[in-house]
Amino acid sequence: MPTFTAVRLFNEDGRRVSRVVTMNLDDLDPGEVVIKTRFAAVNFKDARAVSGEGNVVKRFPCIPGIEMSGVVASSALARFRAGDRVTVQGGPDFGIRRDGAYAEYVRVPAAWVHPVTVEFDEFTTMALGIGAYTSSVAIERMMALGVTPQSGPIAVTGATGGCGSFAVDILAGLGFEVVAITGKASEAGYLRSIGAARVIGRADIVSGPKPLEEQRWAGCIDTVGGAPLDAILRSLKKGGVVCAFGNAAGETFTTSIYPFILRGAMLIGINANHPVDQRGSAWSRLATDMKPRHLDRIIQTIPFAQLKPYCDQLIKGGARGRTVVQFQ
Ligand SMILES: NC(=O)c1ccc[n+]([C@@H]2O[C@H](COP(=O)([O-])OP(=O)(O)OC[C@H]3O[C@@H](n4cnc5c(N)ncnc54)[C@H](OP(=O)(O)O)[C@@H]3O)[C@@H](O)[C@H]2O)c1
Repeated sequence: MPTFTAVRLFNEDGRRVSRVVTMNLDDLDPGEVVIKTRFAAVNFKDARAVSGEGNVVKRFPCIPGIEMSGVVASSALARFRAGDRVTVQGGPDFGIRRDGAYAEYVRVPAAWVHPVTVEFDEFTTMALGIGAYTSSVAIERMMALGVTPQSGPIAVTGATGGCGSFAVDILAGLGFEVVAITGKASEAGYLRSIGAARVIGRADIVSGPKPLEEQRWAGCIDTVGGAPLDAILRSLKKGGVVCAFGNAAGETFTTSIYPFILRGAMLIGINANHPVDQRGSAWSRLATDMKPRHLDRIIQTIPFAQLKPYCDQLIKGGARGRTVVQFQ
């Protein structure tokens, strides 16, 4: 039985500590399908888990990482055969309550495994992954509520992040005027290069105590929550829609009733952790009208050996775009 390398999270006297360890298959949680990992991704919650921050991982020890792609090594069910190219993305427990993606081999229930679609290879599947999927679901929802490119500018908060970058790119491709809101003034050039018409500093949208401000935004894809979400709500145009799914700026926020009762503001929560068999239509759109046009600028690739230091950098807000982890 081969041994392999994994990043595993331990709870040591109440402190969460990740370590690079050597394991074998019997050490992993049970499952019908064993997959040799080729790529994984680093989402905000993955970086928090690896760095021992927050409460992402619920069981110890546990391998973090909520999405991966690779090649089936063995399967107890005929549905999958050795050599099949597959992906595991999200699901309620992967990398949370059961061993996840940051290992050279992954073992999971067959229900969590999805073939890599014909439009994408294993790398592109991870490059897009939960980041592009979540942003496309949020944009689709905003448009279904009546926001069109003619409605006015769309704000994207946390614009340099993985989800934020995809939101900027996809919205611009659909013909929207995108205003990128960021804490990194130095990344204005990057944000324009992926489709932002304008770039505004995070501090510049958080305004005074008035419950309503000048009407600026027809909609917003909010990846950060907290004070920026409150500022966006106060500056929404009549009938504007905010689709919110992130918490980097805070898990709570204060607002007033006035954007809702005087301007008809709509605040929509997005939970993109859909069952695998319900994700097809969003993935089809990511291959067609919502296809990101600047993958080469948004994606960076790091070797598995760099994962831990990279996660520490990401949670300090020091990353840009989306990161794919490459295994041997
Ligand atoms: N609900 C769902 O289904 C779902 C799915 C996927 C992701 N998410 C959530 O969406 C969020 C974004 O995920 P991600 O993977 O794109 O994360 P990410 O790549 O780490 O990006 C987060 C971005 O937020 C901004 N930011 C960081 N710290 C901040 C702070 N203190 N205040 C304000 N902004 C801050 C930064 O962008 P700037 O410097 O440009 O401002 C950063 O690049 C996370 O909260 C994640 O958990 C939710």
